[in-house]
Amino acid sequence: MGIQFRKVSHEYSFGQKGFFQAINNITLSIEEKNEFICLVGHTGSGKSTLAQHMNALAFPTSGEVEIFGSIVSSKRNKKIHYNDLRKHVGLVFQFPEYQLFEETVEKDIMFGPMNFKVSLEDAKTEALKAIKQVGLNETYLKRNPFNLSGGEKKRVSIAGILAMNPDILVLDEPTSGLDPQGKRQLMDLFKQIQEDTLKTIVIITHDMDLVYEYANRVIVLNDGDLVYDGNEEDLFHKEELASWSLNVPSTIRVLQRLKTQFNLDINPFQKTVEQASLELKRGMNR
Ligand SMILES: Nc1ncnc2c1ncn2[C@@H]1O[C@H](COP(=O)(O)OP(=O)(O)OP(=O)(O)O)[C@@H](O)[C@H]1O
Ligand SMILES: [Mg+2]
Repeated sequence: MGIQFRKVSHEYSFGQKGFFQAINNITLSIEEKNEFICLVGHTGSGKSTLAQHMNALAFPTSGEVEIFGSIVSSKRNKKIHYNDLRKHVGLVFQFPEYQLFEETVEKDIMFGPMNFKVSLEDAKTEALKAIKQVGLNETYLKRNPFNLSGGEKKRVSIAGILAMNPDILVLDEPTSGLDPQGKRQLMDLFKQIQEDTLKTIVIITHDMDLVYEYANRVIVLNDGDLVYDGNEEDLFHKEELASWSLNVPSTIRVLQRLKTQFNLDINPFQKTVEQASLELKRGMNR
């Protein structure tokens, strides 16, 4: 089960003859449980396009995606209940404006559960739980989603997917536009959900500090090609990082600089500031 991509390409067409190949020949497998995946790559590398194939919001131009046993290919298949697929895989859009449409936050969050035949009362309970999970209080439930700040909209759109309780959560840049504390708070929430429920979480981000600290698998796209699929540790040892337009996490960068400049015997590959400072202390006492 889970999600399997088999030689998936997606071409956008525009105008009379124009087309653009956004992802090329992608083969990968996402387990149903217990993965914390970060999907990274430069702007325009195809991340959002790939994510939209994970719950059949986009259809491959060639190849196929198997989502919890249903095969999605270039043509719409009347036998597939796409709504059921989306019960398994919830996608939070990069731009919350595409996702929010009801007149109150509460109705917006309740929409998903109600669509999956949850009772009104239970959907309300889910909405209250979800709004608190994303760090907003219940007074937000009566507000109009369109009058919220960018970061608040983002949180509400995430709450909407949490309330649906899918098996796999795919979040397209959930932390972009949030303040540093908010970013961490949300990443901690996703980590917590993953640890408590063993759900697989896929997060698209440009922030390599977060990737290094939270991911246990990283998928890298470059110009629509899958160029890396492996653990976070090996990734940041790769020489190709710059050619894929990826930054080295700041802990590694600072420790590498200190190591060379002061000829310290330290291991620069430390994930958090706390670990980096412990390693530095150890190196200075050697
Ligand atoms: N509807 C569309 N029509 C034509 N081209 C498109 C369309 N949507 C996306 N593209 C192109 O496909 C490529 C991949 O887009 P995508 O949104 O998947 O990139 P991304 O990696 O998510 O980028 P970002 O980091 O900026 O969000 C881009 O070059 C983009 O211009
Ligand atoms: Mg995108």
